[in-house]
Amino acid sequence: THAPLIDPFARPITYLRVSVTDRCDFRCTYCMSEHMQFLPKKDLLTLEELDRLCSVFVDMGVRKLRITGGEPLVRRNIMQFFRAMSRHLGQGLDELTLTTNGSQLSRFAGELADCGVRRVNVSLDTLDEDRFGKITRWGRLPQVLEGIQAAKAAGIRVKINTVALKGFNEDELFQLLDWCAENDHDLTFIEVMPMGDMTENERLGQYWPLSDLSRRLEERFSLTPLAERTGGPARYVRIDETGQKIGFITPLTHNFCESCNRVRMTCTGELYMCLGQEDRADLRTPLRASESDMPLRQSIRDAILHKPKGHDFDYSRQHVSGQMSRYMSHTGG
Ligand code: GTP
Ligand code: 5AD
Ligand code: SF4
Repeated sequence: THAPLIDPFARPITYLRVSVTDRCDFRCTYCMSEHMQFLPKKDLLTLEELDRLCSVFVDMGVRKLRITGGEPLVRRNIMQFFRAMSRHLGQGLDELTLTTNGSQLSRFAGELADCGVRRVNVSLDTLDEDRFGKITRWGRLPQVLEGIQAAKAAGIRVKINTVALKGFNEDELFQLLDWCAENDHDLTFIEVMPMGDMTENERLGQYWPLSDLSRRLEERFSLTPLAERTGGPARYVRIDETGQKIGFITPLTHNFCESCNRVRMTCTGELYMCLGQEDRADLRTPLRASESDMPLRQSIRDAILHKPKGHDFDYSRQHVSGQMSRYMSHTGG
């Protein structure tokens, strides 16, 4: 059929992250401002347009599709879109998955499983109800825990994503570890990335390097690095004493850009070539300009030719650089 997408640094692009809405029912402080201005509905791609775009990407060699937001499960009729995407599984697409805050999982877990979703990543930074309320600004922890249970009951594996935040969840490291072990969830820690409108001091105040976190783990356990990769940015270690697998996403202390395999599409059809750069391409115009997919394909190829080498995030020397005013919710992480 068609040649696979290869970027200027010889990286094959096989992973597409698609944000289906900029809205979210939470307001995690590192992801959104308290009073977000959401996009007018007319700027959003319709579910049919999202289907067409993603299908073209699958045809162009994308093997993994991760649905994000905002919170993807708050988009109206989103199951229609998952259902549509599931037809590509085994037909070019290896994995259909999502990253979610878990608040709507109780309702959708069964249908997601029916659509071939085998794994889900749930963002959860604390197991303390008060803290959860603070970091999400108004989220309810029990609702998320129920959602996680529902996913598990539906046969979906759950990976917990925990953003490491100094002075916030540092003291919960071992509780989080134990809870994930008891419930058989994978766990990945993420270094907080400097996005949104926080001041430099706020940024430095919350930055907790994962090198420090793994040092704390090593004081108690012996860790064996694992070679396996999920096609995402995490590196994994095994805790020998418990057999537990822990992931680390360390864009700041150990950048993984050299093996980057992905691009991200916003809910308005902008294709961002890198999470930490502004380079992007408008795909909505070619999508709407023609019933033929040819202009769209050409725009995608042109865009990939401009994928930058990597991000410029840096917290070194007590100074934040590379900060982006764009909120994380815009591109879905
Ligand atoms: P799996 O490995 O398939 O579980 O997924 P993933 O880690 O790719 O996806 P997830 O949505 O769980 O993302 C976890 C974190 O990794 C989020 O904070 C993302 O922002 C971050 N992340 C994902 N891709 C990139 C990337 O290309 N660059 C950087 N700097 N961060 C990324
Ligand atoms: N830095 C790191 N991770 C972030 N996320 C949201 N904002 C940030 C940030 N500034 C995470 C969420 C979710 C994933 C998609 O991105 O916790 O797990
Ligand atoms: Fe919503 Fe996820 Fe952003 Fe939190 S991190 S505000 S749950 S999109």
